[in-house]
Amino acid sequence: APAALAEEARPAYHFAPARNWMNDPNGLVYFEGEYHLFYQYNPYGDRWGHMSWGHAVSRDLVTWEELPVALPETDVMAFSGSAVIDWNNTSGFGKNGRPPMVAAYTGYDPKTKNQSQFVAYSNDKGRTWTVHGKVLDIGSTEFRDPKVFWHAASKQWVMLVVMAVENRLAIYTSGDLKTWAHASDFGPAGGRGKNWECPDLFELPVEGGKPGEKRWVLGINLGDSGVGGGSGGQYFVGDFDGARFTPDPSWGREPQWMDYGADFYAAVSWNDLPKDDPRRIWIGWANDWRYANAIPTYPSRGLMSLPRVVSLKKTPQGYRIAQAPVREVEALRSGHRSASALALGESATLLPIEGGAVELDLELETGSAEQVQIAFTDDKGFQTLIGVTPKTNEVFIDRTRSGPHFHDAFADRHTAPVDLTSGRVRLRAFVDQSIIELYVNDGQTTITDRFFPGGGGLKWSASARGGTATIRKLDGWMLTKSKAP
Ligand code: FRU
Repeated sequence: APAALAEEARPAYHFAPARNWMNDPNGLVYFEGEYHLFYQYNPYGDRWGHMSWGHAVSRDLVTWEELPVALPETDVMAFSGSAVIDWNNTSGFGKNGRPPMVAAYTGYDPKTKNQSQFVAYSNDKGRTWTVHGKVLDIGSTEFRDPKVFWHAASKQWVMLVVMAVENRLAIYTSGDLKTWAHASDFGPAGGRGKNWECPDLFELPVEGGKPGEKRWVLGINLGDSGVGGGSGGQYFVGDFDGARFTPDPSWGREPQWMDYGADFYAAVSWNDLPKDDPRRIWIGWANDWRYANAIPTYPSRGLMSLPRVVSLKKTPQGYRIAQAPVREVEALRSGHRSASALALGESATLLPIEGGAVELDLELETGSAEQVQIAFTDDKGFQTLIGVTPKTNEVFIDRTRSGPHFHDAFADRHTAPVDLTSGRVRLRAFVDQSIIELYVNDGQTTITDRFFPGGGGLKWSASARGGTATIRKLDGWMLTKSKAP
């Protein structure tokens, strides 16, 4: 077995629990100054099992405080789901005139394999919970991951649930979070796989659209057959009237991917952000079910992506999302380094940045190069490449040599389409010990991948193959954990 990535290599600004197994983000909700991050958690071990809701809170989306388990396994495991603030106490779960926090999750019965939807509530900011009980059971073993939100226009609660193996989304509505009526189904459509999981649906303004134009984004995660080779997320853009999702007539048959790496999965967004914050923010589990139980970290196994702002643009290709890490992460910057007009050729040019927790912002001119690559290398010689290939209009992360062998599906290269005909591209890379998130051209494309270094600080260099290229501008920072604000 490979050496486990030890405690000192814990990420500095991505959330990981102190110990044990974590998968999907759950119950993302904002309330009274706190962003809540619940998550699929095994309190007893570092492999999937005993699924419960772990809990962490943050006031700035980058500094997280881990709290005791919120929803422990009972006679059912607490699978993925969501949380809302019931502002008008429609459920009657509120106390002393304060709105309750209400969670909807899948109860998985290990004996019968039945999956049904449960509701629980908290009157103390998510610290302790009362299970109200089962609210929706269709006698299925593949019916899960309820996403609940308030639909203001039709003044009702909406619940999205997947019929996982049928690759279908079922939509339910309710006035009180306890009684749910079936409204419509969507799918199969777009990317198919063994399972559809973790749906989400939200409205966004369309940048570059008609004045005041808004559209709904439907996120559907795929347990396998994603663009990165395994688990991945796709999305659809269309309209939602409170009962039915209709993809835009322009929407193609090809799936559109949330991310082109292997390690961005189960992404879902926060409910109830403060009224003066217009952002839609989602977070993904930085992992892939193919090898999730085998990744070489200890004593915790599982990591979240950075929280990302999702926006929607009208492009010549149609409606497309863009993603940016929340600006709060910039408060962690220190040790600014910069460079300009760096000429790149075959031999590696060292970049003025080092360490395992960094942000790198590059404006690249691809020049005559067939390929431009940025490499970070550790003391063991494990190396990860960020690359740009003008001829094929692609960016990639190559992690074929990014750590010890622990699973056959890991060593791979993940490519994403990007228009490089202008000869210019902006790459923003967030590296944090064992994860790289690459945002290309203002996040129109992202690639998220884990890597597992063998030790020592990372050394950064750049080179061009088959010609020359230029780094027009480079900005780099170390990102160090802030004190809890
Ligand atoms: C997605 C998923 C969900 C399920 C949960 C169980 O990664 O398979 O569909 O609710 O994980 O932990």
